Amino acid sequence: MDVAVRLDRTGGLAGQIYRQLRDAVLDGRLRRDEALPSSRELAEQLQVSRNTVTTAYERLTAEGYLTGRPGAGTFVNALPLAEPTVPQTPTGPLTPRPVWPSMPVPPDFSDAPEFDFRVGAPDARLFPYAAWRRLLTDQFRPAAVGTGMPAEPAGHTGLRTVIARHLRTARFIETHPQDVLVTCGVQQALDLIGRVLLEPGATVAIEEPGYAPPRLVWEAQGAKVIGVPVDDQGLIVDALPADARLVYVTPSHQYPTGVALSLRRRVELLAWAQRHDAAIVEDDYDSEFRYTEQQLEPLHSLDRSGRVLYVGSFSKVLLPTLRLGFLIHPPSLRHPLHAAKFLTDWHTALPLQAAMADFVEQGMFARHLRRVRRVYRQRHERIAAALAGPLSAHLTVVPSTAGLHLSAMVRGATAADALVRARAAGVGLASFPEIATSAPDPPGVVFGYGMIDAPRIDEGLALLHRHLDAG
Ligand SMILES: Cc1ncc(COP(=O)(O)O)c(C=O)c1O
Repeated sequence: MDVAVRLDRTGGLAGQIYRQLRDAVLDGRLRRDEALPSSRELAEQLQVSRNTVTTAYERLTAEGYLTGRPGAGTFVNALPLAEPTVPQTPTGPLTPRPVWPSMPVPPDFSDAPEFDFRVGAPDARLFPYAAWRRLLTDQFRPAAVGTGMPAEPAGHTGLRTVIARHLRTARFIETHPQDVLVTCGVQQALDLIGRVLLEPGATVAIEEPGYAPPRLVWEAQGAKVIGVPVDDQGLIVDALPADARLVYVTPSHQYPTGVALSLRRRVELLAWAQRHDAAIVEDDYDSEFRYTEQQLEPLHSLDRSGRVLYVGSFSKVLLPTLRLGFLIHPPSLRHPLHAAKFLTDWHTALPLQAAMADFVEQGMFARHLRRVRRVYRQRHERIAAALAGPLSAHLTVVPSTAGLHLSAMVRGATAADALVRARAAGVGLASFPEIATSAPDPPGVVFGYGMIDAPRIDEGLALLHRHLDAG
């Protein structure tokens, strides 16, 4: 740890060094086993004699704060110190804009239920660790790093090219690498879109029930966000507010219900956007996981007027912690979106982007997808079978053949009570209002299968069944 010592040259120098290092250990700035600079280095840094530093170190060692390890250096000892306290009611002269105090901070994901049906993440055990270790190591060589100067805001050219090619072959999306913007996940794409398209107070329409982050990010930017109901064909286009500038949809696999936006509604939505001069954000967040060939093409490939912004993510295919996603934008928004990305964070971490490009280019992405798709298909089928069979007396499944979760509607108050008990017994299901912006009705629950393997699915569903049958 780099250690700062301020000498005012009024008292004994060794005493000042001693007191400041002692205080740093006591208040936790220097922690157990941390190495201190050598006496020669610290003497050079402070412009004092080496003897002065040695005197301070010897006293700290004699009193038990430090230990000298021959040939290794001087280290901080373990002391039974109390945890530093964080003030509970932060006070101060600065106040945030009114929208911020009610904004949520990330929930604590560390507390996993026994039967982990939570949504939002894939199975980290399936991540191709060895391949990524190699790909990232390759990036940390002088030839790959180059001058180290900041790079193109829109992203690594190779990655933009492979994303365009992947989308053309897998999703029938015709785009040019110049119109691919690499982002820190879908979340940053939503933020950039809002910055570029929304005037303060502009109306935005989102699905309800729906994914909460778009509401939060656009409300934080000063937009008026309105929930529009979803039925068994997806977003009800007739219910869109006429003044919406932006409509956010998850057409392939509506979050959280799982329904697909019907072809009729897709065509209606595109025509509506044209009539109302609005933009559409198509979030295709988990479309890599399709368990049947009969899938509708993305809205983007039906769009003839350049109104659809298509966002995707590597969060579900690889890991959410990579924070790697992309935005396919109409050429008319190329300059402002790239400028917004530059203003926000200049660019997404380049070694990560380059490793991702190699992962796709070398065929590993396709191989990984084939592998995880098989695993998730099996999990999907297990849950779908239980929902169509033993659990069907209490829950109505929402038919879905994609993604990493299945939803079901709860029938009756007795089933709702039994669900509460099953959850208390460790069946980690979430209800719609907990994971989505929605009213309490319809009472839906979500079976995520990203994080739970097949045997645990069977055990969890059996436990759920017992609770539901007991009433
Ligand atoms: C509807 C939806 N969109 C996007 C994402 C991915 O977001 P990000 O790329 O920011 O991790 C998720 C992940 O849970 C999601 O549920």
